Amino acid sequence: MSAGRLRVAALISGRGSNLKALLDAAADPACPFEIVHVFSNRPDAGGLAHAAAAGVPATVIDHKLFASREAFDMALDDALAAVRPDVVAFAGFMRILTNAFVERWRGKAVNIHPSLLPLFKGLHPQRQALAAGVAVSGCTVHWVTPGVDEGPVIARAEVPVLHGDTEDALAARILVEEHRLYPRALAMIASGAARFPEG
Ligand code: GRF
Repeated sequence: MSAGRLRVAALISGRGSNLKALLDAAADPACPFEIVHVFSNRPDAGGLAHAAAAGVPATVIDHKLFASREAFDMALDDALAAVRPDVVAFAGFMRILTNAFVERWRGKAVNIHPSLLPLFKGLHPQRQALAAGVAVSGCTVHWVTPGVDEGPVIARAEVPVLHGDTEDALAARILVEEHRLYPRALAMIASGAARFPEG
């Protein structure tokens, strides 16, 4: 591990604002993690520009070029293994992975989700929160296990749901907290304060 920092590989599919938050945090030499590589399953992901700007290598593995989910996952698995990450951080990565892949990276893969898990898993969690009428929502960083948005929680941040909120307004308020929470959660893993609960 270079300079003792936690080696993080980031997986993106789109805008990449969480990736940018991680890259910005890692730009500080005192940060206990570094982003060693970025992988995108979409060639047009906006987040690729953030990797380039930070001088972090990025690889596109276009899922559309693979005949099956298994074939894509095997290619991603090989590419990931080659960069020897301590942690694989899903940052707006919009692919459901096979159980074989998830098991292979068990205890190393983490995800951020814009709700207070276990509430509002899956798509449109902010819309789900508004429909449920909750007064508080937020975001969660959790270990990736089989089952979408399941897996042990590492850290959560709360955000108020305001009267008259739209889905976009709530999403934007949560996103501000995501950008603080994700670097904090990776620092917790780096320090050993957060560990995957084995057994
Ligand atoms: C974030 O809200 C993240 O929690 C969710 O997808 C969104 C990705 O945004 N999984 P970005 O690509 O990091 O800007």
